[in-house]
Amino acid sequence: MGKLVICDHPLIQHKLTFIRDVRTNTKEFREHVDEVATLMAYEITRDIPLETITVQTPVAETESKVISGRMLGLIPILRAGLGMLEGVLKLLPAAKVGHVGLFRDPETLQPVEYYIKLPTDVQERELIVIDPMLATGGSAIAAITSLKNRGCTQIKMMNLIAAPEGVAAVQEAHPDVDIYVAALDDHLNDHGYIVPGLGDAGDRLYGTK
Ligand code: PRP
Ligand code: URA
Repeated sequence: MGKLVICDHPLIQHKLTFIRDVRTNTKEFREHVDEVATLMAYEITRDIPLETITVQTPVAETESKVISGRMLGLIPILRAGLGMLEGVLKLLPAAKVGHVGLFRDPETLQPVEYYIKLPTDVQERELIVIDPMLATGGSAIAAITSLKNRGCTQIKMMNLIAAPEGVAAVQEAHPDVDIYVAALDDHLNDHGYIVPGLGDAGDRLYGTK
């Protein structure tokens, strides 16, 4: 079973409150999402492997650590995942980026894939799938399945807010995937919205309805 990590750093929790607040306007919403994404990237990369190398300082030769292992790939789910991408790239500027376009059919709540474009060496990378919302889990499961169908094996999921139903669904469909969230909310309502959540992430990021 993949682990669920709640990124409970005070700065993340503070900013998340403003993201949730219905009075927060589009500009502020976007800025806070960007900032939380950067802070979450710090948590999600906590376990990436290091190797020891020798370095010559101006004073002496010493052993010191550098990142080793697989290179990273970031996979925002369009469109709301784009709102977190730049924030993650601030910490991981060398990561390559693949895009998966999915929308949730408002009637059936089933994800519909309309676009996918991945780095050519995506199979060799450790991937972070990025989406602010994990509601039923359908979009996350579809995106991860698409990546696995193309040979990807090391995948983490990153969301601002998750519903317990979505976490359970992803853990069942993809037990090898760890999920990082800023908050685990209470439940889904009849329209598949997370309660209390933040509303529609894409609409709040881009000022649409
Ligand atoms: C939202 C959100 C997730 C999905 C979550 O996207 O950004 O991708 O819903 O719901 P699920 O867990 O039930 O699949 P939406 O389909 O509204 O598309 P958008 O990003 O284009 O607004
Ligand atoms: N997508 C959103 O943007 N918000 C939710 O609460 C659920 C799905």
